[in-house]
Amino acid sequence: MFRSLTLSLALANSALATYSFDPLEHLAGIAPYFEPADPPLNPKPPQGCNVTRASYLVRHAAIYANDFDYEEYIEPFTNKLKNTTVDWSKAGPLRFLATWQTPISDDEQEKLTKAGELEAFQLGVDIGMRYPSFQAPKRVWTSTAERTEKSALSFIEGLVEQSNETQRVSVAESEAEGADSLTPYEGCPKYSSSAGSKQSSQYKEIYTKPIIERFHNLAPGFNFTADDIVGMQELCGYETVIRGSSLFCGLEVFSPNEWLGFEYTNDIQYHYNTGYGNAISGVLGYPWLNATAGLLASDNSSQDIYVSFTHRELPPMVLVVMGLFNNSAYSGANDPNATMPLTVQNYMRAWISSRILPFLTNIAVEKMACDSYGFDSGDYFRVLVNQSPQHLPDCGDGPGESCSKPRFGQFVQTRGEMFGGYTENCQPEYNNSTNVLSIYES
Ligand SMILES: *[C@@H]1O[C@H](CO)[C@@H](O)[C@H](O)[C@H]1NC(C)=O
Ligand SMILES: *[C@@H]1O[C@H](CO)[C@@H](O)[C@H](O)[C@H]1NC(C)=O
Ligand SMILES: *[C@@H]1O[C@H](CO)[C@@H](O)[C@H](O)[C@H]1NC(C)=O
Ligand SMILES: *[C@@H]1O[C@H](CO)[C@@H](O)[C@H](O)[C@H]1NC(C)=O
Ligand SMILES: *[C@@H]1O[C@H](CO)[C@@H](O)[C@H](O)[C@H]1NC(C)=O
Ligand SMILES: *[C@@H]1O[C@H](CO)[C@@H](O)[C@H](O)[C@H]1NC(C)=O
Ligand SMILES: *[C@@H]1O[C@H](CO)[C@@H](O)[C@H](O)[C@H]1NC(C)=O
Ligand SMILES: *[C@@H]1O[C@H](CO)[C@@H](O)[C@H](O)[C@H]1NC(C)=O
Ligand SMILES: *[C@@H]1O[C@H](CO)[C@@H](O)[C@H](O)[C@H]1NC(C)=O
Ligand SMILES: *[C@@H]1O[C@H](CO)[C@@H](O)[C@H](O)[C@H]1NC(C)=O
Repeated sequence: MFRSLTLSLALANSALATYSFDPLEHLAGIAPYFEPADPPLNPKPPQGCNVTRASYLVRHAAIYANDFDYEEYIEPFTNKLKNTTVDWSKAGPLRFLATWQTPISDDEQEKLTKAGELEAFQLGVDIGMRYPSFQAPKRVWTSTAERTEKSALSFIEGLVEQSNETQRVSVAESEAEGADSLTPYEGCPKYSSSAGSKQSSQYKEIYTKPIIERFHNLAPGFNFTADDIVGMQELCGYETVIRGSSLFCGLEVFSPNEWLGFEYTNDIQYHYNTGYGNAISGVLGYPWLNATAGLLASDNSSQDIYVSFTHRELPPMVLVVMGLFNNSAYSGANDPNATMPLTVQNYMRAWISSRILPFLTNIAVEKMACDSYGFDSGDYFRVLVNQSPQHLPDCGDGPGESCSKPRFGQFVQTRGEMFGGYTENCQPEYNNSTNVLSIYES
């Protein structure tokens, strides 16, 4: 009796019985905000440390649909669906398509959803609670797109008591700003927004092939294409942040392995677009790191917390300049492209876009005053990505993965030697480019 009870408990706890999988955590740039605990270090300041100042870079919250995703994948699929004569009632797991209606209209694309507003408000509340001693910031910065402006607005409402006392500073997204904007890639001719699509389409063809054949068997008249599959998987994410749930997320529609295929395809794209596979990534991330280091290192500052809203491109570029989520780390080699093979998934990779750039993804650099066992008293710096503390390369001589002030200064200088020189590297045609982000000054 006792033995069989133990056995059934063991069975219930076995990996087989408890395997679970949430597609929403594998949707790359369309993943609703989540905190993946990567790595699972405690987000609380280390023993003996108080955070005295912080700077955050935040992607806007959930939107109806990005223009490119909509025009390239979703709209072609939904148009085809409107026009088809397929009898979906006989199409097994796809039978919901008989009555399904698209949640996205032409004029809503790119706009923040209600769930997005809520996410941004919640992040404001969480960050306020993380730093109870901080003064409300006088200013919060945002690039000028409606989705970043509205994210900043909701965030401010969540963060402070009197939102009229925190000014929202709009930073132009136009080209001729050089490094002096929250969208520095816009003014950099060496950055191409389509970088990575050639490479990622190789893996797209591989992972969608069996799906296309399975769906063809269910609905031969529809002629599913690889792009239809991508559109349907993207709809899981977008429909969830619009309506709260989506039948496209069902694991009988796409299996866990098929979601991982979607995610890896995106990871390849971002590797070549904003990651280690693109030499310009770190160059475009550097001005924010340098400006943030300046704000935090100075002896006086006008605010306890600096928060800036941007688009999906900038946070991963900042991670590259910091050397984080580097697939090559500890490998003894530096061959970034070899770490993202195009025909097979590298499941051991560190570069996982769902964790790096979901909606509302945020990177924090904190300054701490520490009096901690085993370390000299003084100021230390720490980086959090979606609240998880990160270990900066050659910059971890402090408590809880933090870095001492002199080491951090050296770190920023070394990264500047590797990635400084926006104007020289981007070679813009306008003649008033700059290498520094100066929006926080004055
Ligand atoms: C719908 O099908 C008709 C007839 O095949 C075709 O002429 C039309 O272009 C299609 N419309 C869309 C939106 O695909
Ligand atoms: C903000 O609103 C509060 C309450 O309505 C008011 O007392 C305060 O003076 C306002 N502050 C500013 C800077 O307008
Ligand atoms: C360069 O000049 C343009 C046009 O006058 C202006 O909009 C832009 O802000 C300037 N860029 C910098 C970095 O000052
Ligand atoms: C599906 O593809 C086949 C072969 O390319 C083509 O003959 C057929 O017209 C297509 N059907 C639809 C509905 O597009
Ligand atoms: C990685 O691939 C990209 C695109 O082909 C190329 O531009 C880059 O130089 C490669 N990186 C390295 C380190 O070889
Ligand atoms: C900090 O102090 C220096 C020298 O007193 C001053 O020039 C600077 O404007 C101050 N910075 C801020 C952010 O208050
Ligand atoms: C990534 O890691 C490799 C191996 O440690 C290192 O050589 C390379 O500089 C790192 N890349 C960046 C951008 O930090
Ligand atoms: C941290 O804050 C606590 C409470 O205000 C204070 O007692 C402690 O001395 C501070 N520690 C340091 C290192 O500043
Ligand atoms: C970093 O920022 C400082 C202050 O704006 C600037 O003087 C310095 O040139 C910048 N470093 C690089 C490598 O661009
Ligand atoms: C920069 O370019 C503008 C027009 O493109 C021109 O009017 C201006 O004289 C140039 N300035 C310098 C310093 O070359």
